Amino acid sequence: MSVSMELDRFAGMIAHELRNPLASATTNLAVAADLMEETDPRSAFIRRAEKEMDRIRLLLDACIELATAGRIDRRDVSLPQLLQDAAEGLVPSRNGDVELRLDVAGTPRARIDPSLMQRAIGNLIENAVKAFGGEPGTIGISASRTGNEVRFTVEDSGPGIPEELRARIFDPLVTGLKGSGLGLAFVKKVVEAHGGTIEVGRGELGGARFEIRIPEEE
Ligand SMILES: Nc1ncnc2c1ncn2[C@@H]1O[C@H](COP(=O)(O)OP(=O)(O)OP(=O)(O)O)[C@@H](O)[C@H]1O
Ligand SMILES: [Mg+2]
Repeated sequence: MSVSMELDRFAGMIAHELRNPLASATTNLAVAADLMEETDPRSAFIRRAEKEMDRIRLLLDACIELATAGRIDRRDVSLPQLLQDAAEGLVPSRNGDVELRLDVAGTPRARIDPSLMQRAIGNLIENAVKAFGGEPGTIGISASRTGNEVRFTVEDSGPGIPEELRARIFDPLVTGLKGSGLGLAFVKKVVEAHGGTIEVGRGELGGARFEIRIPEEE
């Protein structure tokens, strides 16, 4: 096993082991809060601690996810279906405030890991929605096959990647949106596990544009 896979396993194991004591501590806090009057000034501290624990839980989940991103299991996948699955539930349609434009010509298929790639594209869509900050916006996603290369693009009409983050955007724990900063690290790891590349720039919709290229199975 390679050093990086050993490290992945180790990080994943630790994150996993931390889940149980965290869940137990969270339950204990909730019980303590229940024992207090709502007006008790101490309950505000408990709520704050509960919020922090929620953040830790999300971080652990993201760590576990990141640790598994390097092991791919290729299947024959319909690319339009993959995009649809990736977007499902992520694009708020309540007020029609986020418009999703899907662009797939024909019915291309490819041998990639459906679950990991769907989550990777999902992360990019999630970031775009977050970048709109509640304002209306448009997200364009595409999948295509040319020769022996699969190409995905995800672009949005948001503000674009902040200049000061651009060089480190795919590094773990880099965030400008108060997230865990593990989303793009996950995307990059999944793409590279497929032997592919990811690049970011500015797109025609005005905001960030991510382009993923994956070669035919080596
Ligand atoms: N489409 C985008 N438009 C503008 N900024 C973006 C976009 N995608 C990513 N970013 C910037 O890159 C940062 C890192 O993204 P990444 O997905 O790795 O972490 P996150 O979204 O902050 O947290 P997490 O994904 O772990 O919840 C974001 O916080 C944001 O500042
Ligand atoms: Mg993210």
